[in-house]
Amino acid sequence: MDLDFPHGKKLRLVVGDITKIRVDAIVNAANSGLHGGGGVDGAIHRAGGPTLMRELDVIRAAQGGCPTGSAVVTTAGALPAKFVFHAVGPIYRDGSHGEPDELASCYRTCLELAEQHGVRIISFPAISTGVYGYPVEEAAGIALDTVAKHLENPASGVHEVLLVLFDQGSYEVHSKMAARRP
Ligand code: APR
Repeated sequence: MDLDFPHGKKLRLVVGDITKIRVDAIVNAANSGLHGGGGVDGAIHRAGGPTLMRELDVIRAAQGGCPTGSAVVTTAGALPAKFVFHAVGPIYRDGSHGEPDELASCYRTCLELAEQHGVRIISFPAISTGVYGYPVEEAAGIALDTVAKHLENPASGVHEVLLVLFDQGSYEVHSKMAARRP
């Protein structure tokens, strides 16, 4: 499903494996220690190769990890992209501990990094909706709102944003939320 924005910009919802889709920047759902993990983080490190962790080691040594709601940049190793933006989503408790702001901040930070790095096409997984337990419908609303706001800005250089959903159920929830948008 595609949502169209002014100047030919697009937000696309797709089902798939984010490591297989060619873009300029792939967003990872990382942890604040930048240590790698399972889920999409594991898949990105497996497909990207050891370069990613070597670069994260340097970042960790310099700044001691990455705060929730923010992201750090590495090259993409063997992945079909130029960069990986390692974003740290919130661990969901009950939604009243700043989780919505932190999740929106992940998307916003990655879109700002995209602008700084001349990225035109960027892919996101559904950050925090796996191990971190964020309810998919709520997370989808935040992802869609934050990305839409960016694409509506005529000054944005980002042209296409892919939300890559790993399973059909997540795709359907995101599509339902996208269809409800005015
Ligand atoms: N492509 C796209 N999406 C994927 C892929 C993939 N290859 N693999 C998993 N996903 C989906 C999951 O189905 C889920 O919907 O990514 C979404 C995010 O799930 P997680 O990877 O569990 O990420 P998150 O909930 O943000 O938890 C982050 O998990 O792997 C660890 O190191 C990571 O500690 C961190 C935590």
